Amino acid sequence: MIDRLGRKVTYLRVSVTDRCNFRCTYCTLPASPRGLLTVEELDRIVRVAGSLGIVKIRLTGGEPTVRREIVEITRRTARVPGIREVVMTSNGSRLRDLARPLKEAGLKGINVSLDSLDPERFRTLTHGGDLAAVLDGIEAAREAGIERIKVNAVVVGGMNDDEVLAFADFAGKTGIEARFIEYMPTRRGEARGWTVPYTVLLDRLAESFTLSPLQAYADGGPAERFRIEETGAVVGFIHAMSNPFCERCNRLRVTPDGRIRSCLLTGGEVDFMAALRSGAGDEEIASLFRKAGDLKPAVYELHRLDELDMRAVGG
Ligand code: GTP
Ligand code: 5AD
Ligand code: SF4
Repeated sequence: MIDRLGRKVTYLRVSVTDRCNFRCTYCTLPASPRGLLTVEELDRIVRVAGSLGIVKIRLTGGEPTVRREIVEITRRTARVPGIREVVMTSNGSRLRDLARPLKEAGLKGINVSLDSLDPERFRTLTHGGDLAAVLDGIEAAREAGIERIKVNAVVVGGMNDDEVLAFADFAGKTGIEARFIEYMPTRRGEARGWTVPYTVLLDRLAESFTLSPLQAYADGGPAERFRIEETGAVVGFIHAMSNPFCERCNRLRVTPDGRIRSCLLTGGEVDFMAALRSGAGDEEIASLFRKAGDLKPAVYELHRLDELDMRAVGG
């Protein structure tokens, strides 16, 4: 599927729940009142997406692993014609039990949200989260043979920006890519000071290490990546604020309550719940996808960021 501006859309992020077992400081928005897509409806949507040229599905939330049927959703998604890989973004807290069944269901990769490597700070940031359980979950994912594991740290100024070297060290020791995400202000009036430009973090790393730029992933992920020559660590920066990457955006999103979002940040959405539940055919659903593709903005509008419900959209 090609959008209005010639961008090839091959990647669909499917949010399977708006619930989460953590309460991150920057993510405390209420759940949607409309109810969730069923497992069958999710399967249907992915089938239509597969027929339109989507090859990669990322399951997100909320926290996808709190959805009871997550293993079944993964299995069904992995079997859809055209879908080459199913991956997930998770807070990692439930992976000790779920990593193996998810791997057996066909999961190829996991990005684990991990904003601090200090147990006390982690507890504060997530309102009660247990760092040891998350680290153990990452280990379980490795033991299960899930191929691609990365950690994502949303960097908030004054909160965890002093942990850049600690994350680089983690990446060196574990061989797991660590990515730093620029915080996106999502609430009205929120201090823009929470966002730390990625160049500040990059400079800090460059004081201690030699950084070599790496090629972006072939599937066009948003991260700008570097190798730390001294340790072999791979670090990445997702700089949606200071250096937007919208011109190479390749994705659409499905919300847990049945809408296709054209962009994480702004740009409108297409509601397909009613169509789905009133017996619409595949061609009609496909046309709703194309419509969402055509709503993708050339670049997001910063002044509308405070309308974003990051939790329900799944990042
Ligand atoms: P890969 O497929 O591994 O490259 O993953 P990804 O980076 O696409 O997915 P992940 O869920 O790890 O995303 C990490 C963060 O990147 C999200 O939580 C967002 O903060 C940010 N992000 C992902 N996609 C977009 C996007 O389309 N626009 C913007 N502005 N930010 C995005
Ligand atoms: N800015 C940037 N990333 C965010 N996430 C949640 N809220 C924000 C924000 N305001 C990220 C989470 C996770 C993904 C689901 O979205 O850390 O990686
Ligand atoms: Fe849960 Fe992710 Fe929101 Fe944290 S950022 S509360 S882990 S959905």
